[in-house]
Amino acid sequence: MGLKACTSEFILGDDRMKILITGANGQLGRELQKQYRDIEVELILTDVKELDITDVTAVNEFVSKNKPNVIINCAAHTQVDKCEEQIDLAYKINAIGPKNLAAAGFAVGAEIVQVSTDYVFNGEGNAHLTEFDNANPQTVYGTTKLHGENLVKEFNPKHYIVRTAWLYGDGNNFVKTMINLSKNNSEITVVKDQIGSPTSTVDLAKVIIKLVDEKNYGLFHCTCKGECSWYDFAKEIFRLKNIDVTVKPCKTEEFPRPAKRPKYSVLRNYMLELTTGDITREWQESLKEYIENLDI
Ligand SMILES: NC(=O)c1ccc[n+]([C@@H]2O[C@H](COP(=O)([O-])OP(=O)(O)OC[C@H]3O[C@@H](n4cnc5c(N)ncnc54)[C@H](OP(=O)(O)O)[C@@H]3O)[C@@H](O)[C@H]2O)c1
Repeated sequence: MGLKACTSEFILGDDRMKILITGANGQLGRELQKQYRDIEVELILTDVKELDITDVTAVNEFVSKNKPNVIINCAAHTQVDKCEEQIDLAYKINAIGPKNLAAAGFAVGAEIVQVSTDYVFNGEGNAHLTEFDNANPQTVYGTTKLHGENLVKEFNPKHYIVRTAWLYGDGNNFVKTMINLSKNNSEITVVKDQIGSPTSTVDLAKVIIKLVDEKNYGLFHCTCKGECSWYDFAKEIFRLKNIDVTVKPCKTEEFPRPAKRPKYSVLRNYMLELTTGDITREWQESLKEYIENLDI
Protein backbone atom coordinates (compact mmCIF):
# COMPACT_ATOMS: atom_id res chain seq x y z
CA MET A 1 0.00 0.00 0.00
CA GLY A 2 1.40 3.41 -0.91
CA LEU A 3 1.52 5.74 2.04
CA LYS A 4 -0.29 9.02 1.69
CA ALA A 5 2.50 10.77 3.50
CA CYS A 6 2.17 13.99 5.39
CA THR A 7 -1.45 14.46 4.34
CA SER A 8 -1.81 18.20 3.99
CA GLU A 9 -5.45 18.66 4.80
CA PHE A 10 -4.67 21.69 6.93
CA ILE A 11 -6.27 24.94 5.93
CA LEU A 12 -5.71 28.31 7.54
CA GLY A 13 -7.86 28.83 10.58
CA ASP A 14 -8.49 25.10 10.86
CA ASP A 15 -8.65 24.17 14.53
CA ARG A 16 -8.95 20.42 14.10
CA MET A 17 -6.67 18.29 16.25
CA LYS A 18 -3.43 17.53 14.39
CA ILE A 19 -2.24 13.97 14.81
CA LEU A 20 1.13 12.67 13.67
CA ILE A 21 1.24 8.90 13.20
CA THR A 22 4.74 7.46 12.87
CA GLY A 23 5.19 3.93 11.50
CA ALA A 24 1.87 4.63 9.76
CA ASN A 25 2.36 1.81 7.28
CA GLY A 26 2.42 -0.92 9.94
CA GLN A 27 -0.57 -2.95 11.14
CA LEU A 28 -1.66 -0.55 13.87
CA GLY A 29 -0.77 2.57 11.87
CA ARG A 30 -3.06 1.50 9.04
CA GLU A 31 -5.99 0.80 11.36
CA LEU A 32 -5.57 4.14 13.15
CA GLN A 33 -5.58 5.94 9.79
CA LYS A 34 -8.81 4.16 8.92
CA GLN A 35 -10.57 4.98 12.18
CA TYR A 36 -9.32 8.57 12.38
CA ARG A 37 -10.55 9.27 8.83
CA ASP A 38 -14.12 9.09 10.21
CA ILE A 39 -13.28 11.72 12.82
CA GLU A 40 -12.64 15.43 12.32
CA VAL A 41 -8.86 15.45 12.76
CA GLU A 42 -5.93 16.37 10.58
CA LEU A 43 -3.64 13.40 10.00
CA ILE A 44 0.07 13.60 9.30
CA LEU A 45 1.22 10.16 8.21
CA THR A 46 4.83 9.08 8.13
CA ASP A 47 6.74 5.83 7.91
CA VAL A 48 10.49 5.30 7.86
CA LYS A 49 10.96 6.88 4.41
CA GLU A 50 9.25 10.14 5.41
CA LEU A 51 10.48 10.25 9.01
CA ASP A 52 13.03 7.89 10.50
CA ILE A 53 12.25 8.13 14.21
CA THR A 54 15.85 7.20 15.11
CA ASP A 55 17.16 10.43 13.50
CA VAL A 56 16.98 13.03 16.25
CA THR A 57 17.58 16.02 13.95
CA ALA A 58 14.96 14.90 11.46
CA VAL A 59 12.44 14.29 14.26
CA ASN A 60 13.10 17.67 15.89
CA GLU A 61 12.79 19.50 12.57
CA PHE A 62 9.68 17.60 11.47
CA VAL A 63 7.84 18.01 14.75
CA SER A 64 8.75 21.69 15.22
CA LYS A 65 7.65 22.44 11.64
CA ASN A 66 4.36 20.49 11.73
CA LYS A 67 3.45 21.15 15.39
CA PRO A 68 1.14 18.18 16.00
CA ASN A 69 -1.13 18.12 19.05
CA VAL A 70 -0.65 14.37 19.43
CA ILE A 71 2.06 11.98 18.24
CA ILE A 72 1.08 8.31 17.98
CA ASN A 73 4.18 6.19 17.64
CA CYS A 74 3.34 2.97 15.80
CA ALA A 75 6.94 2.48 14.58
CA ALA A 76 8.87 -0.37 16.14
CA HIS A 77 11.33 -3.18 15.46
CA THR A 78 8.74 -5.92 15.92
CA GLN A 79 10.75 -8.92 14.72
CA VAL A 80 11.42 -10.48 18.08
CA ASP A 81 14.03 -13.02 16.90
CA LYS A 82 15.94 -10.54 14.72
CA CYS A 83 16.18 -8.15 17.69
CA GLU A 84 18.38 -10.74 19.48
CA GLU A 85 21.03 -10.17 16.76
CA GLN A 86 20.27 -6.58 15.77
CA ILE A 87 20.70 -5.24 19.27
CA ASP A 88 21.80 -1.70 18.36
CA LEU A 89 19.02 -1.36 15.82
CA ALA A 90 16.46 -2.61 18.36
CA TYR A 91 17.64 0.01 20.89
CA LYS A 92 17.54 2.71 18.22
CA ILE A 93 14.01 1.96 16.98
CA ASN A 94 12.34 0.77 20.18
CA ALA A 95 13.99 3.04 22.77
CA ILE A 96 15.75 6.04 21.20
CA GLY A 97 13.06 6.65 18.54
CA PRO A 98 10.30 6.97 21.17
CA LYS A 99 12.59 9.24 23.23
CA ASN A 100 13.16 11.48 20.19
CA LEU A 101 9.42 11.74 19.56
CA ALA A 102 8.59 12.33 23.23
CA ALA A 103 11.17 15.12 23.57
CA ALA A 104 10.32 16.79 20.26
CA GLY A 105 6.64 16.56 21.19
CA PHE A 106 7.25 18.10 24.60
CA ALA A 107 8.97 21.07 22.94
CA VAL A 108 5.81 21.90 20.96
CA GLY A 109 3.30 20.88 23.66
CA ALA A 110 2.29 17.63 21.93
CA GLU A 111 1.10 14.53 23.76
CA ILE A 112 2.57 11.16 22.88
CA VAL A 113 1.12 7.67 22.55
CA GLN A 114 3.74 4.92 22.79
CA VAL A 115 2.68 1.35 22.03
CA SER A 116 4.37 -1.40 24.01
CA THR A 117 4.19 -5.12 24.60
CA ASP A 118 3.58 -8.08 26.91
CA TYR A 119 7.28 -8.93 26.37
CA VAL A 120 8.16 -6.43 29.10
CA PHE A 121 7.12 -9.19 31.54
CA ASN A 122 9.04 -12.42 32.14
CA GLY A 123 6.06 -14.56 31.11
CA GLU A 124 6.78 -17.14 33.78
CA GLY A 125 3.81 -16.65 36.10
CA ASN A 126 0.28 -17.98 35.87
CA ALA A 127 -1.77 -14.94 36.87
CA HIS A 128 -3.10 -12.10 34.75
CA LEU A 129 -0.62 -9.23 34.61
CA THR A 130 -1.72 -5.72 35.48
CA GLU A 131 -0.07 -2.34 35.03
CA PHE A 132 0.96 -2.57 38.70
CA ASP A 133 3.05 -5.73 38.21
CA ASN A 134 6.79 -5.46 37.85
CA ALA A 135 8.30 -5.66 34.39
CA ASN A 136 11.18 -8.10 33.91
CA PRO A 137 11.91 -8.55 30.20
CA GLN A 138 13.78 -11.65 29.02
CA THR A 139 14.56 -10.63 25.45
CA VAL A 140 16.23 -7.80 23.56
CA TYR A 141 12.84 -6.85 22.11
CA GLY A 142 11.19 -6.71 25.56
CA THR A 143 14.13 -4.87 27.11
CA THR A 144 14.27 -2.22 24.39
CA LYS A 145 10.49 -1.73 24.46
CA LEU A 146 10.62 -1.25 28.25
CA HIS A 147 13.37 1.36 27.84
CA GLY A 148 11.14 3.00 25.22
CA GLU A 149 8.32 3.21 27.78
CA ASN A 150 10.60 4.69 30.43
CA LEU A 151 12.21 7.22 28.11
CA VAL A 152 8.81 8.42 26.93
CA LYS A 153 7.74 8.87 30.57
CA GLU A 154 10.97 10.74 31.30
CA PHE A 155 10.82 13.09 28.32
CA ASN A 156 7.11 13.89 28.09
CA PRO A 157 4.66 13.93 31.03
CA LYS A 158 1.66 13.97 28.66
CA HIS A 159 2.01 10.32 27.67
CA TYR A 160 -0.20 7.35 27.01
CA ILE A 161 1.71 4.06 27.10
CA VAL A 162 -0.39 1.22 25.78
CA ARG A 163 0.82 -2.39 26.05
CA THR A 164 -0.71 -4.95 23.73
CA ALA A 165 0.01 -8.52 22.58
CA TRP A 166 -0.50 -11.07 19.78
CA LEU A 167 -1.57 -8.29 17.40
CA TYR A 168 -3.13 -8.88 13.98
CA GLY A 169 -4.47 -6.42 11.41
CA ASP A 170 -3.53 -5.15 7.95
CA GLY A 171 -0.01 -6.60 7.60
CA ASN A 172 1.91 -9.77 8.27
CA ASN A 173 0.65 -11.70 11.26
CA PHE A 174 -0.07 -15.15 12.70
CA VAL A 175 -3.57 -15.38 11.19
CA LYS A 176 -2.30 -14.86 7.65
CA THR A 177 0.69 -17.14 8.24
CA MET A 178 -1.61 -19.98 9.33
CA ILE A 179 -3.96 -19.53 6.36
CA ASN A 180 -1.06 -19.40 3.92
CA LEU A 181 0.55 -22.48 5.46
CA SER A 182 -2.68 -24.41 5.08
CA LYS A 183 -2.52 -23.91 1.30
CA ASN A 184 0.41 -26.33 1.00
CA ASN A 185 0.11 -28.46 4.14
CA SER A 186 -2.59 -30.82 5.35
CA GLU A 187 -1.04 -30.94 8.83
CA ILE A 188 0.33 -27.98 10.81
CA THR A 189 2.13 -28.18 14.15
CA VAL A 190 1.59 -25.30 16.59
CA VAL A 191 2.83 -24.66 20.15
CA LYS A 192 0.34 -25.31 22.89
CA ASP A 193 2.31 -24.27 25.97
CA GLN A 194 2.39 -20.51 25.38
CA ILE A 195 -0.71 -18.64 26.48
CA GLY A 196 -1.76 -15.09 25.57
CA SER A 197 -4.58 -12.98 24.19
CA PRO A 198 -4.93 -12.49 20.41
CA THR A 199 -5.73 -8.84 19.79
CA SER A 200 -7.23 -7.12 16.77
CA THR A 201 -5.82 -3.73 15.73
CA VAL A 202 -9.48 -2.63 15.50
CA ASP A 203 -9.93 -3.00 19.27
CA LEU A 204 -6.54 -1.49 20.06
CA ALA A 205 -7.04 1.55 17.80
CA LYS A 206 -10.49 2.21 19.33
CA VAL A 207 -8.97 2.24 22.80
CA ILE A 208 -6.10 4.54 21.78
CA ILE A 209 -8.53 7.00 20.17
CA LYS A 210 -10.70 6.96 23.31
CA LEU A 211 -7.74 7.51 25.65
CA VAL A 212 -6.57 10.49 23.59
CA ASP A 213 -10.08 11.87 23.35
CA GLU A 214 -10.49 11.70 27.14
CA LYS A 215 -6.92 12.88 27.89
CA ASN A 216 -6.57 9.83 30.11
CA TYR A 217 -2.79 9.81 30.46
CA GLY A 218 -0.78 6.94 31.92
CA LEU A 219 0.09 3.29 31.44
CA PHE A 220 -2.57 0.94 30.06
CA HIS A 221 -2.82 -2.72 29.09
CA CYS A 222 -4.96 -3.30 26.02
CA THR A 223 -5.59 -6.78 24.68
CA CYS A 224 -8.79 -8.49 23.63
CA LYS A 225 -10.54 -10.38 26.41
CA GLY A 226 -9.95 -14.07 27.11
CA GLU A 227 -6.87 -16.23 26.58
CA CYS A 228 -5.68 -19.17 24.54
CA SER A 229 -2.59 -20.97 23.27
CA TRP A 230 -1.18 -20.48 19.77
CA TYR A 231 -2.59 -23.96 19.07
CA ASP A 232 -6.12 -22.88 20.15
CA PHE A 233 -5.72 -19.67 18.13
CA ALA A 234 -4.79 -21.65 15.00
CA LYS A 235 -7.71 -24.07 15.49
CA GLU A 236 -10.14 -21.13 15.76
CA ILE A 237 -8.71 -19.48 12.62
CA PHE A 238 -9.26 -22.67 10.60
CA ARG A 239 -12.72 -23.23 12.07
CA LEU A 240 -13.85 -19.71 11.20
CA LYS A 241 -12.31 -19.90 7.73
CA ASN A 242 -13.73 -23.40 7.09
CA ILE A 243 -10.29 -24.80 6.31
CA ASP A 244 -9.87 -28.53 6.71
CA VAL A 245 -6.38 -29.00 8.15
CA THR A 246 -5.04 -31.08 11.03
CA VAL A 247 -3.51 -28.95 13.77
CA LYS A 248 -1.03 -30.86 15.94
CA PRO A 249 0.02 -29.48 19.35
CA CYS A 250 3.70 -29.29 20.29
CA LYS A 251 5.90 -27.92 23.04
CA THR A 252 8.06 -24.79 22.90
CA GLU A 253 11.26 -26.92 23.18
CA GLU A 254 10.38 -28.64 19.91
CA PHE A 255 10.72 -25.30 18.06
CA PRO A 256 13.74 -23.52 19.58
CA ARG A 257 13.85 -19.82 18.61
CA PRO A 258 16.53 -17.17 19.21
CA ALA A 259 14.25 -15.10 21.49
CA LYS A 260 12.69 -16.70 24.56
CA ARG A 261 8.89 -16.77 24.32
CA PRO A 262 6.67 -15.98 27.33
CA LYS A 263 4.87 -19.09 28.64
CA TYR A 264 2.02 -17.06 30.08
CA SER A 265 1.56 -13.40 29.30
CA VAL A 266 -2.12 -12.66 29.66
CA LEU A 267 -2.53 -8.97 30.32
CA ARG A 268 -5.46 -7.69 32.35
CA ASN A 269 -6.74 -4.32 31.11
CA TYR A 270 -6.93 -3.19 34.69
CA MET A 271 -6.30 0.53 34.19
CA LEU A 272 -8.98 0.63 31.49
CA GLU A 273 -11.37 -1.16 33.85
CA LEU A 274 -10.58 1.32 36.63
CA THR A 275 -10.81 4.46 34.51
CA THR A 276 -12.35 4.86 31.06
CA GLY A 277 -13.94 1.39 30.84
CA ASP A 278 -12.71 -1.60 28.85
CA ILE A 279 -14.30 -1.55 25.38
CA THR A 280 -12.26 -4.45 23.94
CA ARG A 281 -14.11 -7.54 22.74
CA GLU A 282 -13.59 -11.26 23.39
CA TRP A 283 -10.74 -12.46 21.17
CA GLN A 284 -12.99 -14.89 19.27
CA GLU A 285 -15.47 -12.14 18.37
CA SER A 286 -12.76 -9.81 17.02
CA LEU A 287 -11.13 -12.67 15.12
CA LYS A 288 -14.45 -13.60 13.50
CA GLU A 289 -14.88 -10.06 12.19
CA TYR A 290 -11.28 -9.99 10.92
CA ILE A 291 -11.61 -13.30 9.09
CA GLU A 292 -14.93 -12.31 7.52
CA ASN A 293 -13.19 -9.27 5.99
CA LEU A 294 -9.96 -11.03 5.01
CA ASP A 295 -9.38 -11.45 1.29
CA ILE A 296 -6.81 -14.26 1.28
N1 LIG B 1 2.75 -7.30 16.21
C1 LIG B 1 2.53 -7.77 17.44
O1 LIG B 1 2.17 -8.94 17.66
C2 LIG B 1 2.73 -6.87 18.62
C3 LIG B 1 2.54 -7.39 19.91
C4 LIG B 1 2.71 -6.55 21.00
C5 LIG B 1 3.05 -5.22 20.82
N2 LIG B 1 3.22 -4.75 19.57
C6 LIG B 1 3.59 -3.33 19.42
O2 LIG B 1 2.53 -2.69 18.71
C7 LIG B 1 3.07 -1.64 17.91
C8 LIG B 1 2.54 -1.77 16.50
O3 LIG B 1 2.94 -3.04 16.00
P1 LIG B 1 2.63 -3.47 14.48
O4 LIG B 1 2.40 -4.94 14.48
O5 LIG B 1 1.63 -2.54 13.90
O6 LIG B 1 4.08 -3.19 13.85
P2 LIG B 1 4.52 -3.34 12.32
O7 LIG B 1 3.39 -3.82 11.49
O8 LIG B 1 5.82 -4.09 12.35
O9 LIG B 1 4.79 -1.82 11.90
C9 LIG B 1 5.89 -1.09 12.35
C10 LIG B 1 6.14 0.01 11.34
O10 LIG B 1 7.22 0.80 11.81
C11 LIG B 1 8.07 1.07 10.69
N3 LIG B 1 9.41 1.42 11.14
C12 LIG B 1 10.44 0.61 11.45
N4 LIG B 1 11.53 1.32 11.77
C13 LIG B 1 11.18 2.63 11.67
C14 LIG B 1 11.88 3.85 11.87
N5 LIG B 1 13.16 3.87 12.23
N6 LIG B 1 11.21 5.02 11.69
C15 LIG B 1 9.91 5.01 11.30
N7 LIG B 1 9.21 3.89 11.07
C16 LIG B 1 9.83 2.70 11.27
C17 LIG B 1 8.03 -0.22 9.92
O11 LIG B 1 8.53 -0.04 8.62
P3 LIG B 1 9.26 -1.32 7.89
O12 LIG B 1 8.22 -2.39 7.78
O13 LIG B 1 9.69 -0.74 6.59
O14 LIG B 1 10.39 -1.71 8.81
C18 LIG B 1 6.54 -0.53 9.95
O15 LIG B 1 5.84 0.14 8.93
C19 LIG B 1 4.58 -1.72 18.08
O16 LIG B 1 4.99 -0.79 19.05
C20 LIG B 1 4.83 -3.11 18.59
O17 LIG B 1 6.00 -3.19 19.37
C21 LIG B 1 3.06 -5.53 18.46
